[in-house]
Amino acid sequence: MSAEKVTVSIIKADVGSVVGHARPHPSMLDAARNVLKDAQKAGTIEDFYVTRVGDDINLYMTHYKGENNKDVHGAAWECFQQATKIAKKMKLYAAGQDILTDAFSGNVKGAGPGSAEMTFEERGSEPLLFFMADKTEPSAYTLPLTRIFMDPFTTTGLVIDKRAKQGFDFEIQDVMANKKVVMSAPEESWSILSLLGDTSRYAIKRINSRAGIGPAAVVSTDKLNMTAGRYVGKDDPVCICRCQSGLPSVGEYTQPFLNNTMLVAGWMRGSHIGAFYPCSPEDSDPTYYDGPPRVCCLGFQLNNGKLQGLEPYGAKNGEHIPVDFFGTSTFDEARRNAIRASKFMRSQGPFVPSILGAEEMEYTSRPDVLKELTSRFVSLDEKPKKAAAKKAPAKKTASKKKKVEVE
Ligand code: F6R
Ligand code: MG
Ligand code: MG
Repeated sequence: MSAEKVTVSIIKADVGSVVGHARPHPSMLDAARNVLKDAQKAGTIEDFYVTRVGDDINLYMTHYKGENNKDVHGAAWECFQQATKIAKKMKLYAAGQDILTDAFSGNVKGAGPGSAEMTFEERGSEPLLFFMADKTEPSAYTLPLTRIFMDPFTTTGLVIDKRAKQGFDFEIQDVMANKKVVMSAPEESWSILSLLGDTSRYAIKRINSRAGIGPAAVVSTDKLNMTAGRYVGKDDPVCICRCQSGLPSVGEYTQPFLNNTMLVAGWMRGSHIGAFYPCSPEDSDPTYYDGPPRVCCLGFQLNNGKLQGLEPYGAKNGEHIPVDFFGTSTFDEARRNAIRASKFMRSQGPFVPSILGAEEMEYTSRPDVLKELTSRFVSLDEKPKKAAAKKAPAKKTASKKKKVEVE
């Protein structure tokens, strides 16, 4: 076990895909792997794994450089540049979509890609789960994470594991005001929920153990709409979780995705509500109305800063085989429920709650419609005399004229 703190990072971006917003081309993933192979050789990163969910490329990286490191972020930036080049050459859809600046300025924050990073002292054994979601927003993880870390009826570990029972600190971000607050569960549970229930504004950024184990979960909360000054895409967030031995166990993390059919914002045109569909990355193409919003969960052990999955020990070049939790038949029922719930939401057509409230819509024609109607809107208190006189049928106008003459 190294006393040096290890950092686990996921940096992700959508830089173009095959057939609309479905999936990156395999060559794009290969290009990212090549860049990270070099970064591993150069000692910038210890290890990596490249995968995708829907149209998003996800780079998992481990290193000893700390969070927001220029070289690590620079390597990720280079992956997205190379993948964008391929997407442009192939004339793929939305090539370079999440790359919002021409020049890299030392950190992907504010430049388009999303990131989640956590730094901790590696324990004797360190099981990690990597959640990745497509066609939704960071607060999509709020319901499952609050169930996992705050609800003893969901996580029995909160009752019977003496370190988990000490509770957790939640760093909550107000994504609109760009502020954060740390609150503690279980003491402040109901106040925490009072904020987090408003998923359009508040999201969990981090959860830390209060038993001294360090970070338990971290979510990417880069609101692309805020970043670009206008809405350019749902964040399609990732979440890294440490598991076991005083933290929620692997099964306590995965359980809510089967027990609950969770409605999340995003889906078609980032403007709808659909049900979270837990699946394998291979099954994460958005095939029904550009969704429904997918969530994947891949597991690795950490071994002295390196990722260990089902591949032989010592594998290099990112050639790992993670455990794919949602790719199993256990989650068939969750998928069926998600499709049933999503179809039900679609039956509402373009009406809330099938679509989002006006301020959360990624696409809207309303400002233009209202502009065109400016001169036609009248106050409800105004007497519509003139308008009525103008539009009155000829016969009535005549009789009115006659009346005037009589007067
Ligand atoms: C949602 C998403 C898609 C697109 C939709 C329209 O995050 O990526 O649902 O919003 O396919 O895409 P454009 O505007 O590119 O035609
Ligand atoms: Mg996309
Ligand atoms: Mg996406």
